[in-house]
Order: sequence, then structure tokens, then C-alpha cells
Amino acid sequence: MKILVVGTGAREHALVRRLSQDSVPHDLHAAPGNPGMEAHAAIHDVSLGDSAALTALACDLGIDLVVIGPEAPLVAGLADEMREAGLTVFGPSKAAAELEGSKDFAKRVMKDADIPTARSITVSDPTALESALDEINPGAKVPYVVKADGLAAGKGVVVTLSREEALEHARACLASDAHDSRVVLEEFLDGPELSVFCVSDGERVVPLVPAQDFKRAYKGDEGPNTGGMGAYSPLPWLDETAAMHATVEKIAEPVVRAMRERGTPFAGLLFCGLAATREGLKVIEFNVRFGDPETLVVLDRLESDLGTLLHAAASGSLAEAEPARWHTDSSVAVVLASEGYPLAAQTGREITGLDRVKEEGCAVIHAGTTRASDGTLRSSGGRVLSVVASEDTLDKARVRAQSSIAHVLLEGSHYRTDIAECAAHGEIERVTQL
Ligand code: AMP
Ligand code: GLY
Repeated sequence: MKILVVGTGAREHALVRRLSQDSVPHDLHAAPGNPGMEAHAAIHDVSLGDSAALTALACDLGIDLVVIGPEAPLVAGLADEMREAGLTVFGPSKAAAELEGSKDFAKRVMKDADIPTARSITVSDPTALESALDEINPGAKVPYVVKADGLAAGKGVVVTLSREEALEHARACLASDAHDSRVVLEEFLDGPELSVFCVSDGERVVPLVPAQDFKRAYKGDEGPNTGGMGAYSPLPWLDETAAMHATVEKIAEPVVRAMRERGTPFAGLLFCGLAATREGLKVIEFNVRFGDPETLVVLDRLESDLGTLLHAAASGSLAEAEPARWHTDSSVAVVLASEGYPLAAQTGREITGLDRVKEEGCAVIHAGTTRASDGTLRSSGGRVLSVVASEDTLDKARVRAQSSIAHVLLEGSHYRTDIAECAAHGEIERVTQL
């Protein structure tokens, strides 16, 4: 198959890399791509924001399958434009991408379809804020959870013990044009988080194996929220098959049905961000694309072909697709971030030491890297790259990822040293209620 992957990040590098390992060879292309993908795909320098140029590129190349990685072009309608041009696209329409584009929309779909999630109130009038906050957090129950309604690149959510900070973030969201002047106040969900990705063709749902992400910047879940600083799979603290089954039955299938009934079918990747609460799995958020860095470990465990699965979803033929098969080995990804990330990332610095990582058998997945005119590899973003290790136990995988990432030299960079540690040491209470 001739496949074009759209995007620049680690998620897209992981997709390209995994597609290159399918049992049948593909002709792989990426736009705009990153230097890590050069080994597997032809790179096309077309801007992510230029939907007409991306569509023209895919048509000119005679692409059989386009895989759109990031949320912004999906929410802006790139999949619609490409489908109108006759292309086969993995990624939801603009209307279906509202599941990520508006937290309020996602909440309404969940309420209508009776999907387990946190109680919430959407507020658009600043004078109604305080009473709504107290209704969601009766008796000043903490923490408070306040979410900007629209896309905010992982920075729109505040979880805080301070009522004043909650109100301040809510007021800031309401004052910002970027979020359509709506803010979602939500009950706090207590329990370990997991991400379950579900592939859908608009009708059927195929779950991928669960992974856990680490959102906070520093060790011990300290520091500000980030896009994700590491991930691992499988999760030794729950029954993976049962969790996939429960996610499909209670969450993904009802969403897909609800979206179909609304006349805006969801075809693509439904990312279910879940909390394993004492009452069972509940939805924290939906995204409409593969998650980053979870994709790095989920795809590392995929044994069957990725290209056929994504093509089946994109062409409405998941019913005929073979079930996905998985390795039981554990996979751990550790993200290396620039100095100052996530507040003010320092970029443009040289990166060395990647050969040592690869010699040790770990994969290097690029995110914010660029090739300078002198041929050196330089940092160009907050999250720079990830090191992925796979071993027969979670503890071995995490130790190897950790020791290998230490070979990467980038001035001022930082990474977490506790990715998967609690899970590998049996310190997460086993989840039995799904
Ligand atoms: P989101 O962008 O909605 O995934 O939120 C970012 C992070 O905030 C999540 O990964 C959770 O760690 C946390 N969070 C969001 N909503 C809730 C909630 N209702 N209860 C507990 N934690 C939450
Ligand atoms: N790792 C969370 C996300 O991709 O949104």
C-alpha cells in the first residue's frame, strides 16, 4: 500500500516505524514528517496547516491510505477535504472530531448515551461560576477540576485543591476567545488512569491494548501537566482483556452508535482516557487520534499488521478485518524534554548519543527534532524524543529504557526516572471493578 502519514511528532514517527514492520511492504510517505522518519518514509515538506497542499500531495502521489496524526487538522476538517478529493482517510470528520474539539460536546454525547463519566456543569456566564463550582464540589470537596472547552494542547485542564485557583482558571477560560467562552467544571475521578485506543470504521470497534501515560513533568507526579512524559503497556494492575472488553461495551460502542445516530459517524481512532474508579471505568476525556506517548508502547506490542487494520477502518470494512494480535512483552517509553518544558522550552540545541541508545536495542522515536544545515540534529520542540525498550518483564523494560536514555546528550534536558516504576514494583492496587 502507498500510505501517507500526516504529522510531525513521536506519534507519527511511531506509526511510520510500525507500518514499516508490517508483513507486507508499504511505500511510506510522511508530511511534514521529522528526521526520525527518514529511515522509513519519503519526507514531504508541506505545512500541517495547508490542507489544500496536503490533499494535493496525497492525490499526486496516488496514496491508498492517508493517516492523519494530530488533532488540530482533524478538528479543522482535513479528513473531510481529503475524502471529498476521493482519498481513503484514517481520521474522523470535522463534525466527529468535536468529541475532542469541545469538552462540552463530548459531555453531552456521554450524557445522552449513558456513558460513565464525571458529573459536570458547563458554564458560559461568569456570574454563574461560583454556584456551579459549589454544586459540583459540594461541601468544598476537593480537588476541583476545571477544563477549557476547546483544544488547548494539554494545557486547558487544572486540577487543584485551591478554590481560588479553580475560579481563576475558569475565569481565564471564559475571558479567552480561544475556548468559545465556555468552561467545563467536573467532579474529580479517583483512581489510576489508563488510555484505551479504539479503532472504528463508524460502525464497529476494535480495541487496542491499554497503556498508562505520565502527565506531570517531574518524578513522583510533581510539577505542571505536560503532553505526556512516558508510558508503558501492559498494565500489571488490571486484566487487560477485560478492560478492553469493558471499554468497548460501555464506552466506545455507545459513542460510535450515538455519533452514527446524530448523522456524524465517527471513523478513526477514539482515544478513551479513563479513570479506574471504585465504581468501574469512567471517562476523563476523549481524543480523536492516537495518544502520545502511549502510541509508542501500544504499537510496539502490536503483532499483526497495522496498515490493514487502519485501511479497514478507513474503508468501512472492519467487520472483515482479522482481530489484532499482541505481544505479551512489556514496553516502556521515556520522553526526553527540553530545558524549561512545559513552560518555556529552550530549542535549537545539538542532540548526540542516539547511536548508543540504538546499539543497546532500544528504539529512538523523534518528536521535536530537526536536521540543521550543518547536518547536526537539533532540538526544535518541548518534547524532543523518546526511548522505547521492550523486555519480557515490565521492570526490565523500564530499567533498560532508563539506562539507555541517559546516553542522549542535550544540554538542559530532563526526563522522568520513575516511568512504570510503581506498576513494576506492584505498588498500584489491583483493579477488579471494570
Ligand atoms: P484531560 O486533558 O481532560 O485529559 O485532562 C488532563 C489530566 O487532568 C488528565 O489526564 C487527568 O490526570 C486530569 N483530569 C482531568 N479530568 C479529571 C477528573 N475529572 N478527575 C481526575 N483527574 C482529571
Ligand atoms: N498522552 C495524552 C495525549 O496524547 O493526549
